[in-house]
Amino acid sequence: MEGSKVFSFQVPTAVFWGSGASLEIGEKARAVGARRILLVTDQGVAKTGAPERLAGILTSEGMDVQIFAGVSANPDVQVIDRAVRQAKEESCDALVAIGGGSSIDVAKAVGLMLANGGDSIEEYVLGKPIAKRNPPLIALPTTCGTGSEVTTSAVVSDKKRKKKVSLRQGTLLCASVAIVDPELMTSLPPHVVATTGADALSHAMEAYLSHAGSPMTDAGALYAIELIAANLRPAAANPADLHAIGLMGIASTIAGFAFGQASTTLVHCMSHAVGAHFDVPHGLANAVLLPHVMEYNLPSNLPRFARLARALGGRVDGLSDLEAADLGVNLLRRLLADLGIPRHLRELGVSPEAIPAMAGDAAAEKRIKNNPRQVTEKEIVALFERAM
Ligand SMILES: [Fe+2]
Repeated sequence: MEGSKVFSFQVPTAVFWGSGASLEIGEKARAVGARRILLVTDQGVAKTGAPERLAGILTSEGMDVQIFAGVSANPDVQVIDRAVRQAKEESCDALVAIGGGSSIDVAKAVGLMLANGGDSIEEYVLGKPIAKRNPPLIALPTTCGTGSEVTTSAVVSDKKRKKKVSLRQGTLLCASVAIVDPELMTSLPPHVVATTGADALSHAMEAYLSHAGSPMTDAGALYAIELIAANLRPAAANPADLHAIGLMGIASTIAGFAFGQASTTLVHCMSHAVGAHFDVPHGLANAVLLPHVMEYNLPSNLPRFARLARALGGRVDGLSDLEAADLGVNLLRRLLADLGIPRHLRELGVSPEAIPAMAGDAAAEKRIKNNPRQVTEKEIVALFERAM
């Protein structure tokens, strides 16, 4: 970004981080005025017992808790509408989300409906304006990738139109409190640590290169990349490594601060299209696309790509910006290979016939204007073909 540009940084979410921090949920819920809570989660997280344990703490503090454990990957309109029905039937006045980005985004969308009214979230997906602030939401991420606990938006899959839509209006959808507790992440399967961690890396790299970035988001993005480069391998190799997974947890929140303000760019435009057409997990789609898009974007800003190489752990002393930028892309590829990330979309079940439709959807995303290199739909087609 230009040094002379006006920029702002607004995050109304109070963040608590640390081992065992989630045990203070009762106090935090009382502080935001929660009385009747809808706890939003998914089946996998429910099986770990964490939602029930935390619901127990809230109940013992005198709050009423209903659990909605029906969140799916790439949650769609139906899932959100079901959760809204339950929240309305139980007259819920607050939300707790325990899970990955999907659960937190569903809780944000439920809050939107409770505050703004309507029969279905589809109305907002189709552009109905959001006017009122969400009720209190406490977000507890259980993956180290989403950043949704501190971002301003909720991503909803519109399966009817095969699109992913980011709902946002200023900071109206933001969580009131984020509790980032590494103890909630240690039972993650290694491949989920790898793919959600790669999502966080994508958030940070895209935020650092985005036209909508600022010195504030640069600071978070670069430090998040350093933390991820140092901790994602050990965290994915052994999710019970509390030190590594804990630093991945904070890295993903810091990356959330960065991209929540600076936006993501072409990688997320393309991964949203992949997720909408093929139901591929979000982090995995980003992980496969990231090196291809980085290589494409490289000519846009060699000094920034050189700085990325240093954040990724590269020895750049004595290298030209071009040499360092190339080193950065190589280090990224090496990291993703070490994590066992497939190199091609074909391996995720994506078929080439969908490329024209996916490229059209990616090109139509508003955030594409933030990509550091101007890109046409034809070039997105070529990028998808290269990534196949
Ligand atoms: Fe993401």
